[in-house]
Amino acid sequence: MNADRLYERYSELQSYVGWSNEDACRVAATAPVLEPYLHALIEDFYAEIERHPNARQVITGGTEQIARLKGTLTQWIRDLLSGTYDASYVARRWKVGLRHVEIGLEQVYTNVALSRLRTGLVRALHESWRGAAGELKETVRSLDKLLDLDLAIIEDAYQAEYAARLQRNERLATLGQVAGGVAHELRNPLNVVKTSVYYLLNARNPTEDKKAGHLRRIERNVELADGVITALSNFARLPLPEMRPIDLESMVREVLELNPPGDRIEVTLESPPGLPRALGDASQLRIALGNLVRNARDSMAQGGRLDIGLSPEGDRVAISVTDSGTGMDELELARIMEPLYTTKARGLGLGLAITRSIVEKNQGTIQVESRSGRGSRFTVRLFAAPVEGDPEL
Ligand code: HEM
Repeated sequence: MNADRLYERYSELQSYVGWSNEDACRVAATAPVLEPYLHALIEDFYAEIERHPNARQVITGGTEQIARLKGTLTQWIRDLLSGTYDASYVARRWKVGLRHVEIGLEQVYTNVALSRLRTGLVRALHESWRGAAGELKETVRSLDKLLDLDLAIIEDAYQAEYAARLQRNERLATLGQVAGGVAHELRNPLNVVKTSVYYLLNARNPTEDKKAGHLRRIERNVELADGVITALSNFARLPLPEMRPIDLESMVREVLELNPPGDRIEVTLESPPGLPRALGDASQLRIALGNLVRNARDSMAQGGRLDIGLSPEGDRVAISVTDSGTGMDELELARIMEPLYTTKARGLGLGLAITRSIVEKNQGTIQVESRSGRGSRFTVRLFAAPVEGDPEL
């Protein structure tokens, strides 16, 4: 579902429960009152998860992940009490469902966790309330409506995602589909090669220029076909990375040379002096970065800017690839790394899935931010290589 349709659906549900501006104002007025309780509510939320193995098992990142989740949930509650329930709010709510399906959290746990959170919020309101009892009742009613709407959207996302997964699994199982995609991707360059070979074999008195032109066309298209096959085999069987220190600046320059963005795109590369080397497998990371550069280029058919930035971040080094292209809305963004998902008219939809899998195998992370019509930024973070002379080496 796209962001606009989702918002329409939410508005319809709002009218179903009789949601009004007064409700929004009442809920927003509770924000400062509830703020001092958030810490305890969040602690209770995660303590309860600890007691339920079926819920706890989806937390695979240990205390670091829990710490991050606590921050996410705090933000989620602040958003809830913000009084603004626009399309972006709804898309963020929807994403919670999507993310939970992705990590394999059964829907029932979201429901009971929300019930627990609701109880905690209402109890906190009762404890802290200084106004009239009638107004408290109204406020709790408004909060209830809002939480029910939130839950409805999260459940909706769960259902949609389950349905989409089922469909995707069927698609994945259908060899014919992938084969069809490959055939399509290979046929074009092969046809070009065929016509150029035909020309070279049969043309009467071709000029040297013409011959060279056709040979270049052949070379380009063989590379294209090779790229399709490489993408597939990269995806099917990614070998264990050989982790070595990498000079990122030269790697980016190589990648730009191999994947020229074209004349209409202005390219900048910023790399601070003394940037630590990154740790990873250069041959794999070149593929990952190449995919990002090509995607950026493809999103700027009319030209634009491609800014590549390298920067140290604690024990990591970040590579950001920012384009001024077509961008994506929040829901496209949530899916963009899935295999066989593509927003392009051509292509297999494997590029970003490969990129993610390479980056993760190289112990890195990849993050994407995007705005429809404004462009996208992909940030890859890799561990910095230990400095020579360091006792850890
Ligand atoms: C009221 C119920 C819940 C709410 C409102 C909620 C909210 C959220 C939000 C906002 C995110 C981030 C989504 C994003 O990537 O944008 C998230 C992710 C996640 N949630 Fe929940 N959650 C709920 C229940 C639970 C429960 C019961 C568990 C059980 C373990 C859980 C585990 C996780 C995990 C593991 C992630 C992935 C976090 C990551 O990226 O590391 N959530 N949740």
